[in-house]
Amino acid sequence: MSKVLIVGAGGVGQVVAHKCAQVPEVFSEIMLASRTKEKCDRIAAQIARPIATARVDADRVPEMAALIREFQPQVVINVALPYQDLAIMDACLETGVHYLDTANYEPPDEARFCYAWQWAYQERFRERGLMALLGSGFDPGVTNVFTAYAAKHHFDEIHELEIIDCNAGDHGQPFATNFNPEINIREITQRGKFWENGQWVETDPLSVSQVYDFPEGIGPRKIYLLFHEELESLVKHFPTIRKARFWMTFSDNYLKHLEVLQNVGMTRIDPVVFEGREIVPIKFLKALLPDPGSLGPLTKGRTCIGNLISGVKDGKPRRYYVYNICDHEACYREVGSQAISYTTGVPAMIGALMIVTGAWKGAGVFNMEQFDPDPFMERLNRHGLPWTETFL
Ligand SMILES: NC(=O)c1ccc[n+]([C@@H]2O[C@H](COP(=O)([O-])OP(=O)(O)OC[C@H]3O[C@@H](n4cnc5c(N)ncnc54)[C@H](OP(=O)(O)O)[C@@H]3O)[C@@H](O)[C@H]2O)c1
Repeated sequence: MSKVLIVGAGGVGQVVAHKCAQVPEVFSEIMLASRTKEKCDRIAAQIARPIATARVDADRVPEMAALIREFQPQVVINVALPYQDLAIMDACLETGVHYLDTANYEPPDEARFCYAWQWAYQERFRERGLMALLGSGFDPGVTNVFTAYAAKHHFDEIHELEIIDCNAGDHGQPFATNFNPEINIREITQRGKFWENGQWVETDPLSVSQVYDFPEGIGPRKIYLLFHEELESLVKHFPTIRKARFWMTFSDNYLKHLEVLQNVGMTRIDPVVFEGREIVPIKFLKALLPDPGSLGPLTKGRTCIGNLISGVKDGKPRRYYVYNICDHEACYREVGSQAISYTTGVPAMIGALMIVTGAWKGAGVFNMEQFDPDPFMERLNRHGLPWTETFL
């Protein structure tokens, strides 16, 4: 029986609150805290069990630490924004509480994400006997666990890893992002990067694409090469990997809007002076775009996220595909959110469950692939993200 503190009442926070509430035998008390308390209260009102709510500015370590001291959770699930990661880790260290997030740290004034900042907390978490579990969403998150599962059960050596994220859903809006628009656009407009023969190879943004034929009737879709954070930890923890790439589907319509917004400077992250005051164009754009939370009732179709893996087993070459398919409308019926929030929020809940039940134990900073994948894979099937594996 554990208390859990969820920080961030956005699309993902809503799913995490619902999913933790569905497991009362593990999460005996739940608090949802965010910058805007009304958003927490709105989510709490959807759930039959009592959910405590609070206002917190997670950028302020003393404020975050005071809330943790008051509620005394065993674990903090950080589903605010990547900008808050380090401050929340500091507050967890100060108060002696385990930490979990779904996206690695990004400095607000620089569109660059990597694990270096958070891996630097390794000794501090180890000395305090606490766990920081990084990237417990779908990608990163489940994609790391899929890789660990393949390595444990199906391969002696993994040589090539392709992580392929398809959103075959449609929200009917001219342009909208499925999670926080600022974080999403910063990620997509970066230079692409993949791992090949022991080094990173860079590509121009969205310049490499191919068509992939997705299973279960989703069919062929164009996928684009991006850099994604799990590649960094996976090539470190599975050094036999010679090539690792991440791919995502985008519609022509989405890319057309993105190109225009970039060309006119609306995706800039540096401040510009407008009518005597500074504004950051991408933050202004976020204010104009549909709130990802509002897409829940509008989105139809499915997502398909999985790993295509090649390597050897017993001296023979092997090719393997493991994936989850998630239906936007089914997610909305269950928790009032679309599948992008759902596929992130469910693994966040399962990661916290791994920590508080002791299924995953350790002191320090960890990526998901460093633990036994089996109990996590079993929970995916039980909590709404069933997976399928095939040998090709
Ligand atoms: N691993 C994956 O598969 C995956 C996939 C999608 C998203 N993600 C990550 O999931 C996280 C949440 O995404 P989302 O779509 O739910 O975003 P969102 O809808 O924008 O929600 C973010 C929430 O965090 C709150 N917040 C922001 N700054 C805060 C602060 N200083 N203190 C307290 N609360 C603060 C926001 O409060 P306000 O409402 O007051 O602004 C908002 O409620 C992001 O880090 C995103 O990168 C991971």
